[in-house]
Amino acid sequence: MFRRYQRPNDVPAPPSIDVTPKEAAFKARQRMDKAKTQATAEEMAELSRDAKRQEKLIDVRMDLHKRLLETLNLSVLDKAAEADLRREIGTISREGLREAGVVLNNKEIEQLNQDLFDEVKGLGPLEILLRDPTVNDILVNGPEQVFVERGGKLELTNVRFKDERHLLRVIDKIVSAVGRRVDESHPYVDARLADGSRFNAMVPPCAVDGSLVSIRKFSKEKLSIDELIDFGAFTEEMAAYLQAAVATRLNVIVSGGTGSGKTTTLNALSGFIDDKERIVTIEDTAELQLQQVHVGRMESRPPNVEGKGAVDQRDLLRNALRMRPDRIIVGETRGDEVIDMLQAMNTGHDGSMTTIHANSARDAVSRLENMVAMSGIEMPLKAVRSQIASAVNVIVQVSRLQDGSRRMVSITEVTGMEGEIISMQEIFKFRRDGVGEDNKIIGAFTPTGLRSNYAERFKLWGYDLPSSIYTALAG
Ligand SMILES: Nc1ncnc2c1ncn2[C@@H]1O[C@H](COP(=O)(O)OP(=O)(O)O)[C@@H](O)[C@H]1O
Ligand SMILES: [Mg+2]
Repeated sequence: MFRRYQRPNDVPAPPSIDVTPKEAAFKARQRMDKAKTQATAEEMAELSRDAKRQEKLIDVRMDLHKRLLETLNLSVLDKAAEADLRREIGTISREGLREAGVVLNNKEIEQLNQDLFDEVKGLGPLEILLRDPTVNDILVNGPEQVFVERGGKLELTNVRFKDERHLLRVIDKIVSAVGRRVDESHPYVDARLADGSRFNAMVPPCAVDGSLVSIRKFSKEKLSIDELIDFGAFTEEMAAYLQAAVATRLNVIVSGGTGSGKTTTLNALSGFIDDKERIVTIEDTAELQLQQVHVGRMESRPPNVEGKGAVDQRDLLRNALRMRPDRIIVGETRGDEVIDMLQAMNTGHDGSMTTIHANSARDAVSRLENMVAMSGIEMPLKAVRSQIASAVNVIVQVSRLQDGSRRMVSITEVTGMEGEIISMQEIFKFRRDGVGEDNKIIGAFTPTGLRSNYAERFKLWGYDLPSSIYTALAG
């Protein structure tokens, strides 16, 4: 019965049967078993050769590292010139290799010395991944398994730590550098690395199979509107609409899942803000890189080791209101600050923007409702909704599709209230037509045919968009 819902290319052509089904099944199993053993025997040999060598190298490296730490004067390490340190490492590793009776070629020696340098100065095995510009995220599942995300896809790397102790030492190095602590009694920590990357670690016993580390790398290269159009994230027409929306000071929310491109979109949209305006940004992790002249950046602060001194986004937002901003940009609204955000949007700080973690424009609104409810403010639902309806003008939905591409799947306007319900109209959307080769998603951006509720406003402010950008293309 479900056959007709299956993808046609999933349905194999029926095999021509000239043997009994039982016989055929037996033969097939035989063929499969044979193929399996052949492949695995070769692969296994290759793998175990490789693994043994890797293990040996790791041992040598750890050994040399220990020796380095014993030999080097740690207190001068920070101040040591890089060239001196590298020379020192070269000498020690040459001796060490001779003693261990290990012969390496030049490239391997170079690699070993670099690894040792990273161990002493940096974050050990993670360093090579942190340096790799194509890596966006680094995910460590215990010492033996390190994944990275490249171009939207997760892949396993051959980077590994010697053991859990080695991994813990690297974690400790990171967190102690930012004045935090992680151990059995406080097994998780969130921190920002010196280069702006976001770091989270969870150590045993809460992490069951070894410490879990997630690093979201900070990309210095922010994507511009033009680049995003080139990448197919949205169309020129959508960009023209968004320019009008931002420039005429509509309040915009960018909604999407984790890693879907919310911050990237928010950053790009901020490019439409006039240079003369004073912008204040509020973030948990300072990621935004606004191009304007007049920008005040603020970042919240977690409590210190004694649990004191926290400054959350709500504190920052309240303070921001006293700083005479023209616009307020909150990196991501996720908690109590939602009340102040809505109030700010409703009272003169129009043109404010934020992102929110949600799956659709509708969902974004209910997230806002939930956040208000969670913040402990007693307000009837209808009142909350009308606050939201008058505060939020445009919701931009971004999404990371199965094929790894990031697209603006919908631009929706909040038009007001109908009874108890917030009314909305979608202006642009991404229409999916199917899945092509390599599971690439086939589809097209299209206007829905509805004219913007703010068309008059745009016109008054000098953004007279041709009505053709709202009309759906044939097909
Ligand atoms: N349209 C896009 N095309 C290609 N890469 C993108 C696009 N949008 C975002 N990215 C990349 O995706 C990663 C995650 O984006 P980010 O904006 O930080 O997501 P979020 O804020 O939703 O978690 C970043 O490395 C960013 O450069
Ligand atoms: Mg983000």
